[in-house]
Amino acid sequence: MNNLISLKNISKSFLNNKKIAVLKKINYSFTRGKIYSLMGPSGSGKSTLLNILSMIDKPTNGTLTISNKVINFSETVNNDKIRSKKIGIIYQQNNLLSDFTALENVYLANLALTDKKYEAKDRAKIIIKKMGLTSREDHYPSELSGGEMQRIAIARALINEPEIILADEPTGSLDQATAKEVFSILYNLKNKNRLIIYATHNRFFANMADCKLEMIDGNIKTINARFK
Ligand SMILES: Nc1ncnc2c1ncn2[C@@H]1O[C@H](COP(=O)(O)OP(=O)(O)OP(=O)(O)O)[C@@H](O)[C@H]1O
Ligand SMILES: [Mg+2]
Repeated sequence: MNNLISLKNISKSFLNNKKIAVLKKINYSFTRGKIYSLMGPSGSGKSTLLNILSMIDKPTNGTLTISNKVINFSETVNNDKIRSKKIGIIYQQNNLLSDFTALENVYLANLALTDKKYEAKDRAKIIIKKMGLTSREDHYPSELSGGEMQRIAIARALINEPEIILADEPTGSLDQATAKEVFSILYNLKNKNRLIIYATHNRFFANMADCKLEMIDGNIKTINARFK
């Protein structure tokens, strides 16, 4: 099966003073080996959807399947393990723990899967080198530029060699030139076994995906797909 993530009738409502229906019975399958961009106006539910795909939040209704396994949202410990092993997540900002260096931020993510600290450190160093940031390894997040922070966040998302990468406006707080650099790193992470989904407000970056999606009225609409 090439469907790595499937959504069946996924709905999500928030209940504050009144009920807000954000996602409305979404049915969609994401294919391994492809990159998807997710656009849509502010408030349309992009982050809500990504948070469900990463099991950080649970749907109000519906079924999420990852690698042919139906996710039980009450099994939080097990879901944390699945997330550590399979999913790399990159946010717009504040990705890194401020009290830890770049190197620590990256290798600590690996310790969720292994207790071999020195191997984790070596692995982190290799990935940080690929990001061109060896000279910034011992910097704290406050001592990194925005672009450097995002590259470290990508390194951290990659250390467990995830099959799935979810990025929520990963370049939203960067200038265009730095954003281009970060996106080119993101595109280079594509491989036949991996699924990459990113939310963006930037049409130029959205157009680079294999499949362009838009959140419209609580649902996913395919704008174009260069495959299928
Ligand atoms: N925890 C929450 N409680 C109540 N409402 C929420 C909560 N989280 C999100 N919402 C609402 O759900 C809607 C969708 O929010 P979401 O963050 O998914 O939008 P988005 O498409 O990511 O927007 P942006 O482009 O601004 O990041 C918004 O109207 C928001 O106010
Ligand atoms: Mg958002």
